[in-house]
Amino acid sequence: MMGRMRVAAALLLALAACAALPSRTAANKISINWKPNTNYSDWVKEHSPFYKDDWLVFYYTAGQADVVLVDEAGYNKCDATNSIYNYSKGRNFAFQLNETKTYYFICSYGYCYGGMRLAIKTEKLPPPSPPPSAKDRNAASFARSHAAVLYAAVAVLAALLRMV
Ligand SMILES: *[C@@H]1O[C@H](CO)[C@@H](O)[C@H](O)[C@H]1NC(C)=O
Ligand SMILES: *[C@@H]1O[C@H](CO)[C@@H](O)[C@H](O)[C@H]1NC(C)=O
Repeated sequence: MMGRMRVAAALLLALAACAALPSRTAANKISINWKPNTNYSDWVKEHSPFYKDDWLVFYYTAGQADVVLVDEAGYNKCDATNSIYNYSKGRNFAFQLNETKTYYFICSYGYCYGGMRLAIKTEKLPPPSPPPSAKDRNAASFARSHAAVLYAAVAVLAALLRMV
């Protein structure tokens, strides 16, 4: 009897922890294959939205590409002369998007003109329980189904406990 109750309690705790998990807690790590002759405007669309504190990890071949953080004008003109920061060592470069703003990255090796540049707007992480909008509906129904599973489990366990 005691053993069974302990198992039931443990199960309930595990389920509760599972149901309480929000859909987005920590910063995401977004990898990007940073290659010459690539137009990244679709890549940006596909990987949006970006959130403050996400990490962007550039993977590149040394000597073929660099990563240059520029301002909007530098991005528009593919001009790295007023770069804020640049990186070209090793095989990858991780950059944390730690502000809510638009970040502009280009490659200064000439490929920027062909689309090797990124304009990435970061958003604040949505609050834990925002009012449901079209975009959040999936997350909301996911949370509801989690809750339903939890309640069903509680009912089954309660029934089991009554039987012993
Ligand atoms: C990168 O930064 C170094 C110094 O920090 C600078 O000398 C160099 O010109 C920069 N390169 C680009 C492409 O901005
Ligand atoms: C990159 O692709 C976008 C959308 O497909 C297009 O509007 C843009 O002109 C392209 N840029 C270059 C430099 O080809």
